[in-house]
Amino acid sequence: MARPSLRSRRRIITPPLLVSQLETPAAVVDLDRLAANLDRMASYCAVHGLALRPHVKTHKSPRIAAEQLRRGAIGLTCATPRELEVMSDACDDLLLAYPLVGAARIRRVMALRRTVRLTVALDSLEALEALAAAADEASREIGVYVEIDVGMHRVGVASAERAIAVARRTRAMPPLQYRGIAFYPGHVREPIAQQDASLARLRGDLAAFTGALADAGLAPGVVSGGSTPAAWRMHEVAGVTEVRPGTYVYNDRATAALGACAWDDCALAVLATVVSTSVPGQAVVDAGTKALGREPLPEGPGAGFACVMDRPDVVVTRMSEEHGILDLSRTSWRPRIGDTIRLVPNHVCVVVHLNDTIHGLRGEVVETSWPVTARGREAAPEGAA
Ligand SMILES: Cc1ncc(COP(=O)(O)O)c(C=O)c1O
Repeated sequence: MARPSLRSRRRIITPPLLVSQLETPAAVVDLDRLAANLDRMASYCAVHGLALRPHVKTHKSPRIAAEQLRRGAIGLTCATPRELEVMSDACDDLLLAYPLVGAARIRRVMALRRTVRLTVALDSLEALEALAAAADEASREIGVYVEIDVGMHRVGVASAERAIAVARRTRAMPPLQYRGIAFYPGHVREPIAQQDASLARLRGDLAAFTGALADAGLAPGVVSGGSTPAAWRMHEVAGVTEVRPGTYVYNDRATAALGACAWDDCALAVLATVVSTSVPGQAVVDAGTKALGREPLPEGPGAGFACVMDRPDVVVTRMSEEHGILDLSRTSWRPRIGDTIRLVPNHVCVVVHLNDTIHGLRGEVVETSWPVTARGREAAPEGAA
């Protein structure tokens, strides 16, 4: 028998990978900030007795989902079939908070592992009938939240009468289970301290829906709501039992601009390299629309598409696909060619979706990396999660 060589018994020490060694552009996450963000929302929900069902569209990663569940999340919220498929490996209680319309999409959702307790939010009798037929064919119990519109004007039934009609019809189709109502307060965009009027309207609208449903014998078991900007005051909206924030894990420039997180709570940045300074008054980095997305902030000084993490007054004001143009007209800072900088994007969810891998940093060390497994549309390969 061959004896192991001395060489193979020696401990191999690999030097830590430093952030400066990453090829750019790359998505990097400050692990301490991420943990603090996860803890803050988990403890807010625990203190106020709200069930936390975070939306995974921000991180699209079973690894972050596991951290949310470990901190007490009761389940997960998804928007796409791929998110459902990937997250079914991390969690057996999933909400599809997107209208389930179209035969191919329905077929895919019905094929989810049967141990998954699935709930679908919907706002039409058409979607409901198609779901009932598919659930019946698959002999599968599916929960339903009736989606209501309380001001976002995107999806959701507009009146209590419609909510009653959808809830009543759900009850009449046994493979389906009426579990409650859902709303998305994406229209509440004021800083937290200035949300009084919006929350008062929300309280009134919600009470009208829940009161009418209760009078019709259809009191919702679950009232599911909550975006990141509105999450921190959902305990003031009577009747809400569950919240679904997503962005809070990483936060972004838009969330900080709204005052829904502190600047130092922005955990994800796009690491970029300065590739040109030839035009006076600007520096060009290798992160354009294909790294940063093209989500505007409301116009105003410093609007733009992203800003430097430790110099928030330095903004990417123009972009091509692979070029981001930093406006240096309001700073004396002059980055040099080859410098790497961290850019906080306006909308982090879109940026995550543009990346295969996220790198987790502890200081300057790349401590860990994880795949954005649920990005894209196609079925995830077996064992991808
Ligand atoms: C239906 C639904 N629920 C929850 C969320 C999470 O909101 P936020 O991104 O503000 O955390 C979203 C975001 O798009 C959503 O569409």
